Amino acid sequence: MTVERHRPPPHARDRRIGQLIEGRYRIERAIGRGSMSTVYLAEHVHLPGKVAIKTLHRSLSDAPEVVERFRREARAAATIGDAHIARLSHTGQLEDGTYYIVMEYLDGADLGWLLASEGPFSSARTHELALQLCDALRAVHDAGITHRDLKPENLFITQRHGGRDHLKILDFGICKFHGHAAQALPRLTATAVAMGTPHYMAPEQIDASRALDHRADIYAVGANLYFTLTGQPPFDARSLPTLFQRIRVDPVPDVRALRPDVSTAFAEVVARALAKRPEDRFADVRQLRAALIGVPVSEERPRPSFGRSSVNMRRPLPPVAADPAYERTLMSGLPPAAPVSPRRQKRLGLAGIMLAAAVSVAAWAQCGALHREPASRPTPAVR
Ligand SMILES: Nc1ncnc2c1ncn2[C@@H]1O[C@H](COP(=O)(O)OP(=O)(O)O)[C@@H](O)[C@H]1O
Ligand SMILES: [Mg+2]
Repeated sequence: MTVERHRPPPHARDRRIGQLIEGRYRIERAIGRGSMSTVYLAEHVHLPGKVAIKTLHRSLSDAPEVVERFRREARAAATIGDAHIARLSHTGQLEDGTYYIVMEYLDGADLGWLLASEGPFSSARTHELALQLCDALRAVHDAGITHRDLKPENLFITQRHGGRDHLKILDFGICKFHGHAAQALPRLTATAVAMGTPHYMAPEQIDASRALDHRADIYAVGANLYFTLTGQPPFDARSLPTLFQRIRVDPVPDVRALRPDVSTAFAEVVARALAKRPEDRFADVRQLRAALIGVPVSEERPRPSFGRSSVNMRRPLPPVAADPAYERTLMSGLPPAAPVSPRRQKRLGLAGIMLAAAVSVAAWAQCGALHREPASRPTPAVR
C-alpha cells in the first residue's frame, strides 16, 4: 500500500502561503484545516528539512479559553515526548497575534483519510495499529493526561522501513491534565461541559457532570477499532441527542456482525473497550494491550472479499445520520466559528446541517459547538 499525502485543496485567499516565519520557515501549503486552526507544511530556508506549523486562527487569539487550550496542546505534546506522538519543536506568536506550534512534519496520512480512500482495514493491520495505539496511550496516560479526542483524523499513519505502519497521535486540543500534571496550570472557566467528538465519546464524557479519566480514551480506542474494521461508528443516529442516548444505553454492537473474519476474541476485546461503565472496561491500556497480544487476529476461515457486498465504507443511512458534524470536536468557550469560504461551504454542502447540529448541541448541553471543516477526502473507495 502506498500512503499518499492528504492535501486540502488550495485555499485561494490563504495569505500565509509563501510567508516566512521566524525568518526561516517558508509556508508551502495547508495540509489540514479546521475552524480553529490550520496546519501548514513549511520548508526550512537554510537547512534541508520540513516542519508542520499549526496556527490558531487569528480571530481566536482573543479568546482566552481557546488560547489556553492551544497552550495546553503544546504542553501536552512536549510533556509526553514519545515516538508515537508528533514531536513538538516550539511555540510562538506572530506579529499579528496568531499563536502557532512548530512540530515535526509527518509524511503519510491520517487514519480518517486512509479509511475513506482505502476502505476498512484487514484484521491483522487493525490489530497492529491497536497495539501501537496502546503504546502511544500508555505514554499519554503515564504523563497524567487524557486525550479525550481520539478519532481517525487525529491518528496519523506514517510508514517505516519495509512499508510498516507507524502510528502517531495528534491533536491534544481538548486534552485533560490530571493530578500533578494539572498543577500550576491556569484554571479553565468552562470545565463542566461535554467535550469530544460525538461518535467517539464515552458515556461518561457525554455527561459532563460525571468524572472522566483515562478510561474515556479506552472507550475511544474501542470506537476507533470498530470504525477501522467496519467503516462505521459503533453508534449512529439522526440527531445528536439520539446519538448520545444510544451511546449511553444501546447494547455494544458486535464487530463480527459486519466483519465475520475478525476472530471472536479480538471482537470481544473491542466490545470490552466499549463497555458503558468505565469499570467494565480494561482498567488501563497496559491491560488492554495484554488482552490484544493474546488474541488470534482472524478466524481460520478465509477472509471475505472486501467487495461492496461485504463491507461497505458507510452503511446507507438517512441523510442526517451521516452528518459529519458528529465527527467534529465539540468544545466550549469559543466565539463563533471562523467564516468558511463559499467554495468550501459548497464543497462540504453541509452548512445547514452543521448549523442544525450546532443548535442541537447547544440545546442539549448548553455548550458551544466547534465547527470544523472535515478533512478533504476523495470519494470513498471500497477495496
Ligand atoms: N505534524 C503533522 N504532519 C502532517 N500532517 C499533520 C500534522 N499535524 C496535523 N496534520 C494534519 O492536519 C490535520 C489537522 O490537524 P490537527 O492537529 O488534528 O488539527 P485540528 O485541531 O484542527 O483538528 C490532521 O488530521 C492531519 O491530517
Ligand atoms: Mg484534529
